[in-house]
Amino acid sequence: MYYIGVDLGTSAVKLLLMESDGTIVKIVSKKYPISFPSPGWSEQEPDDWWDAVKKGIPELISAIDASKVAGISFGGQMHGLVILDKEDKVIRPAILWNDGRTQKETDYLNNVIGKDKLSAYTANIAFAGFTAPKILWLKENEPENFARIDKIMLPKDYIAYRLTGVHCTDPSDASGMLLYDVKNRKWSKEMCDICGINETMLAKVYESYEKVGTVRAEIASELGLSDSVIVAAGAGDNAAAAVGTGTVGEGLCNISLGTSGTIFISSHDFKMDTFNAIHSFAHADGYYHLMGCMLSAASCKAWFIEDILKTDDYAGEQGKITDDMLGRNNIFFMPYLMGERSPYNNPNARAAFIGMSMDSTRTDMLQAVMEGITFGIRDSYEVAKALGIDVKRTRICGGGSKGELPKKMMADILNIDVDVPENDQGPAMGGAILAAVAAGEYPSVEEATEKIVKMEGTIHPDPAVAALYEEKYQRYRKLYPLLKEWY
Ligand code: XUL
Repeated sequence: MYYIGVDLGTSAVKLLLMESDGTIVKIVSKKYPISFPSPGWSEQEPDDWWDAVKKGIPELISAIDASKVAGISFGGQMHGLVILDKEDKVIRPAILWNDGRTQKETDYLNNVIGKDKLSAYTANIAFAGFTAPKILWLKENEPENFARIDKIMLPKDYIAYRLTGVHCTDPSDASGMLLYDVKNRKWSKEMCDICGINETMLAKVYESYEKVGTVRAEIASELGLSDSVIVAAGAGDNAAAAVGTGTVGEGLCNISLGTSGTIFISSHDFKMDTFNAIHSFAHADGYYHLMGCMLSAASCKAWFIEDILKTDDYAGEQGKITDDMLGRNNIFFMPYLMGERSPYNNPNARAAFIGMSMDSTRTDMLQAVMEGITFGIRDSYEVAKALGIDVKRTRICGGGSKGELPKKMMADILNIDVDVPENDQGPAMGGAILAAVAAGEYPSVEEATEKIVKMEGTIHPDPAVAALYEEKYQRYRKLYPLLKEWY
């Protein structure tokens, strides 16, 4: 049988067709626009996501016997606010995970309601990108839209709804709304009251690997699928990426370098960062995870290479950074193009190059960008270490990790082994695996990933380079406190 994994990303949807044993048959990607209506705001049209999925699926299955497609599931960009009216029509564009407009509402939640209460209700505090502050923003700034809300959804759940007609979500994605009691895996009545919404506006929560329904007959015939195809709830993209790299069960780590950059640590037990610098969320395997999220990772590299250097020759530009340059760059880049989430929780932070001189080159600057992204991941890694979590190795995935250099930098800057999966299709692969579990192909997510996910090799840190980077990182981490006041 075949399974479709839908990675509903920020710049494009990636659709992956997988055979029961994990073999990847085909990948199709369709881009959609993103708008930045004001500095620090970011929005997308949910129907652009749906159109991209509808265009992509027929192409994905064009060369196979489509009656053998048994399931579809998702990894989706998290936290986005999608609101529907009584007729299930989208009320306004979705406000995305990297939108920083809710400073006032975030401050209200953290300082007036209080971090202690938020942590007790949800296991997390408010961050500007989370969904609850956006609901408060809407209530204050667009009361007519707020009054029309009948359903509040997350991005991938809108696609599940269009496929099945069911309003559903899953624990990993629900965790990022600040409306969900992560420890007890249920909606928080207190948080609904604080946001002025009713629990009936929230979707039913299914485990990520549970079937929520089947594809509606008219949609199935439009897409060329049979109407017995099941749809599983799926997961937030980071939990799905963790499934796709086999980061499930106890104490494994995955780093994902997409538009955002995340470090994800799986755990059988519920754990919380007492300072809330990193998130405590439910995992797609039925358990839990801790996660640090930087808002701009691969997007910093894309910005520098495409918008500033005006090229798309990533390999050519990166290829000029030779091994002897590692750990020896005098330029630092602070990767805060969209503000920063973990560990600083500061939507007003902004990116900076520091330390340039007359002999600085574009290659030095690109190296600084790539190092800045990796230092950003190390900031969250340090928080995990301070909690006593002993991460000795990590897996890695995402477009920003393509090629040897980003993986090598990760190994040297974190000074840990980096296990490289055979494929870097994290969230899309995770979505397909969740669909296969929901269809009964495997008894559990852990058993599925044990059979399907294979590592290609391991990159070990080079002790001499790691020592140079240690010194650089200690200099880097002094920069944010110096600039904080200025932001
Ligand atoms: C996680 C987060 C991002 C988005 C990106 O908390 O905000 O990783 O999910 O798609």
